[in-house]
Amino acid sequence: MLLLGGRSEIGLEVVRRLAPGRTVILAARRSGELDAECAALAVAGASAVHTVEFDADDTATHAAVLEKISADHGRIGIVILAFGILGQQGRAERDPAYATAIVHTDFVAQVSVLTTMAQLLRAQGEGQLVVFSSVAGRRVRRANYVYGSAKAGLDGFASGLTDALHGSGVQLLVVVSGFVIGGMTAGMAPAPFATTPDRVADAVVGGLRRRASRVWVPRILRPVFAALHFLPQSVWRRMPR
Ligand SMILES: NC(=O)c1ccc[n+]([C@@H]2O[C@H](COP(=O)([O-])OP(=O)(O)OC[C@H]3O[C@@H](n4cnc5c(N)ncnc54)[C@H](OP(=O)(O)O)[C@@H]3O)[C@@H](O)[C@H]2O)c1
Repeated sequence: MLLLGGRSEIGLEVVRRLAPGRTVILAARRSGELDAECAALAVAGASAVHTVEFDADDTATHAAVLEKISADHGRIGIVILAFGILGQQGRAERDPAYATAIVHTDFVAQVSVLTTMAQLLRAQGEGQLVVFSSVAGRRVRRANYVYGSAKAGLDGFASGLTDALHGSGVQLLVVVSGFVIGGMTAGMAPAPFATTPDRVADAVVGGLRRRASRVWVPRILRPVFAALHFLPQSVWRRMPR
């Protein structure tokens, strides 16, 4: 099992649940500083925990890093793409390089990893991929349109890839969650229907077991966002983050 974004709160909760008896690879920046994460996964029952240096923004390195993991550890069962940044919307509205950096991490780098991993898993004939979309990308809001647009792009890409993988033996699970109370949203007032890394992880594990292509967390957000789609733009533009 490979976690890309080896310190992600949600990612680690998913891995902790699936750890017993598995070899876990945590891929992250500053991979020498993952002792606490490795220890927690060993306690959770992982048979081995390895770390790999991985900078999602450095897309030119993706193929080499991922192919080396596959060569060193053999077949890869589950790959979780949990890296991402929320970014500061205000700064992104004024600074094009910063806006581009958010979209690069949250969309472009994900596309690069998904394309590389899909090929590796196709060659194996099996495997499961998990990617994190967000309600922020279902109908993009004025209040966080930079992050939201990256998630919208990612959601569209992942939907298409899900269909492309149909029949290949490889499953892609798209996780659409609302506001998650945790490190990424620290200091922000929780949005309606806020959830927790625990609940998101439970939904991911359930989705992997059912071989689902999409899970919403919490589930109520699916009909809520279907209805919000019809709100007039004059109301929508005033929606909070
Ligand atoms: N939290 C929410 O409200 C929420 C809601 C919907 C969807 N999601 C999505 O769920 C996923 C996981 O989020 P989370 O709540 O677990 O966030 P988190 O705890 O902040 O974890 C995100 C991780 O991404 C890593 N990262 C960022 N840029 C990277 C890069 N260039 N290369 C390698 N790693 C990088 C960070 O690593 P460093 O330690 O190196 O900084 C951090 O550990 C993200 O895609 C997020 O957008 C989150």
